[in-house]
Amino acid sequence: MATNSFVMNLFNGQAKLDQVFPFPDVLTEEQREILSMVKEPCERLYLDLNDPLKNDAEESINEKVVESLKNLGAFGIMVPVEYGGAGLNNTQYARLGEIMGGNDLGIGIFLGAHQSIGYKGILLYGNNEQKNKYLPDLATGKRIAAFCLTEPSSGSDASSIQTKAELSPDGKHYILNGSKLWISNGGIADVFTVFAQTPQKKADGEIVNKVSAFIVERQFGGVTSGPPEKKMGIKCSNTAEVNFDNVKVPLENVMGEIGGGFKVAMNILNSGRFGMAAALSGTMKRCIAQAVEHATNRVQFGSKIHTFGAIQEKIARMSMAHYLCESLAYMVAGNMDKGYKDFQLEAAIGKIFASEAAWFVCDETIQVLGGIGFMREAGVEKVLRDLRIFRIFEGTNDILRLFIALTGLQYAGGHLKELQRAMNNPAANMGMIFAEGTKRVFRAVGLSSGPSFQEYVNPRFSKEADAASKAIQHFGATVEHLLMKYNKNIINEQFLLNRLANASIDIFSMVTVLSRASRSFEKNFPSAEHEANMVEVICAEASERVLSNLSSVRNADNLKNFKTMAKISNAVCESSGVAHIHPIDGM
Ligand SMILES: Cc1cc2nc3c(=O)[nH]c(=O)nc-3n(C[C@H](O)[C@H](O)[C@H](O)COP(=O)(O)OP(=O)(O)OC[C@H]3O[C@@H](n4cnc5c(N)ncnc54)[C@H](O)[C@@H]3O)c2cc1C
Ligand SMILES: *[C@@H]1O[C@H](CO)[C@@H](O)[C@H](O)[C@H]1NC(C)=O
Ligand SMILES: *[C@@H]1O[C@H](CO)[C@@H](O)[C@H](O)[C@H]1NC(C)=O
Repeated sequence: MATNSFVMNLFNGQAKLDQVFPFPDVLTEEQREILSMVKEPCERLYLDLNDPLKNDAEESINEKVVESLKNLGAFGIMVPVEYGGAGLNNTQYARLGEIMGGNDLGIGIFLGAHQSIGYKGILLYGNNEQKNKYLPDLATGKRIAAFCLTEPSSGSDASSIQTKAELSPDGKHYILNGSKLWISNGGIADVFTVFAQTPQKKADGEIVNKVSAFIVERQFGGVTSGPPEKKMGIKCSNTAEVNFDNVKVPLENVMGEIGGGFKVAMNILNSGRFGMAAALSGTMKRCIAQAVEHATNRVQFGSKIHTFGAIQEKIARMSMAHYLCESLAYMVAGNMDKGYKDFQLEAAIGKIFASEAAWFVCDETIQVLGGIGFMREAGVEKVLRDLRIFRIFEGTNDILRLFIALTGLQYAGGHLKELQRAMNNPAANMGMIFAEGTKRVFRAVGLSSGPSFQEYVNPRFSKEADAASKAIQHFGATVEHLLMKYNKNIINEQFLLNRLANASIDIFSMVTVLSRASRSFEKNFPSAEHEANMVEVICAEASERVLSNLSSVRNADNLKNFKTMAKISNAVCESSGVAHIHPIDGM
């Protein structure tokens, strides 16, 4: 099936540019106006009313802040106006999420668990009755929502959940039974999106379990929650176990199709990921301002420390990481607003990059601050603790990397199958074989010019565009090689899949910043030259990493090292810890 996704097409070695050039620009005049109207009070609320360190110490959010957020409409940002929400789009939501991310990520998770995943299913899959019944109270924050997927024995492997929902003997409702773990807002929510196995009879009479999604109210009875978990960070956000003990769920509270719940869960998560990149872009911006404020004032060895090369490299890298993160967030949000449906790989890249880049930026901020960075009063150690969870939840970055590589490979593999079929009946498919055949020959002798998008970028980026197009071509050739060599067994080659994923992240990153900076020139942004400087370094370093990652999955020495590392890990696991004998004991 054809797709407009840039990253998906990358796996065929093709540059599909619909979603990446020009950089999305989706807001109308009116939408911009509305945004600037809510931005200001939103900023004021966080700065004047909220005390992130106090929320952290007390592990709760000040009631006045919660009330003000409700009055501002922060609980229903994307709910359509007819259901009592603010009716904003993804891009506007992202911009507001940034403000929150720059102030208190704990509040971010409270609000995000509510609207980005808690009731998102009702927005995406709810029927009119469900929307009318639930959205108005959720949009105003009168009722709080939570998303219940994880269980003690199923985290990443979400389809293995044990919670059951069985039709009652009288057929009037489902009986829900099971336990959910680490649910954000789990202790305070009134409305839950719950995923459970529902037994279904197949045509041959065999019973199979399939996941279904349900809207469950606390007041149905049988819903209890555990005490708030004690956590490393995002402490003011409630995380709790939620138990369902023979809860009677009315038939009309099935969300989407019965048996179609896994798709519901994945689409809710996919459609919320851009929000994390936006929020963390705000966090990074705040960190950078704090690092710079220190670096431009602190004097050591008779100089402001920002004049030292070691500090300059840190500040430059922090700024480049932020530029890229911000670009990814608005690239994805913009494409979602344009109505594209195939953004899941790009959204996953945004989440992975943002959560790792924000960690890097915050950690470097602490380093630039020196000892004071380690002190609570500076406020950054709290940010670092808050940031750690972002690489773990809503799909661990490890799982998302595999998701990107495997989804792309499957797409490319399907394409290869078509090619093989075409080979069986050459007369009918001359055009296709010719196109493929010539591409292959060119690759083999190194003649191909590769996909070109010179005409889409500012002339200043001719070298970078060339590097990106070479990287894309190299990527396609590598995918082809891996599929030929490993066929289906590629799914078990995680050392390789991770490197392929990293290469795809770097390539999408290059193209994204090329698109954004080219637009900045077109619009005569005063920062265009500064952006161009960042793009040059980002692209140079990214293309080097791409080449290194792509050659490592074919290089015999690297492949041997991967096998050796698997052996090392096995030895360590068998020894219940390090396997090497202590140097003073071995004699
Ligand atoms: C503060 C907090 C809030 C949360 N909020 C919610 C919420 O609101 N709703 C909800 O449903 N859940 C929530 N979660 C759960 C969260 O989504 C899970 O923790 C996450 O999905 C990972 O699952 P796990 O912890 O069981 O780790 P596991 O799945 O057990 O993974 C452990 C490690 O193994 C790796 N791994 C697993 N499988 C593979 C594989 N096949 N190949 C390679 N590596 C693999 C993982 O990447 C990870 O590094 C929350 C968790 C926390 C800590
Ligand atoms: C639900 O779980 C409880 C306790 O675990 C158990 O006693 C009960 O039989 C279960 N009910 C159903 C319908 O599975
Ligand atoms: C992938 O990239 C991340 C971020 O740069 C890095 O930490 C990780 O080690 C890379 N993984 C592999 C397998 O190269």
